[in-house]
Amino acid sequence: MPVRICRLDEIDDESMVLVRVDGKEYVVGKHDGRVFACDAHCPHRYAYLHRGHFNGNCIVCPLHGFEFDIDTGRLVKIRPWHDGNDWPDQDPEWYRAGDLRIYRVEVRDDGYIYLHI
Ligand code: FES
Repeated sequence: MPVRICRLDEIDDESMVLVRVDGKEYVVGKHDGRVFACDAHCPHRYAYLHRGHFNGNCIVCPLHGFEFDIDTGRLVKIRPWHDGNDWPDQDPEWYRAGDLRIYRVEVRDDGYIYLHI
């Protein structure tokens, strides 16, 4: 069911905002002239993704730098964040993360963004 989120002009180009609908959090953003929406939290260790940035067609998580495609939600890049083998995060289990859930959005003639959840 589509839910009205905010006016299109309330989100700056190349930025992301956190929105709440019925107690659940989502990210809505504008990138390369498109509007997109996804879950608010990174599938790796749950950082808020609206605090990240873009790299090409991906959101880069602000915590460990994993990258998720904003069209498919697919995890496309895992980034080691320490050199050497003596950190607990060198365990392959530490890197395990799923894909990001992407939601359909539409911009209607009334100038508002609608999120399909
Ligand atoms: S919490 Fe996002 S990459 Fe680790």
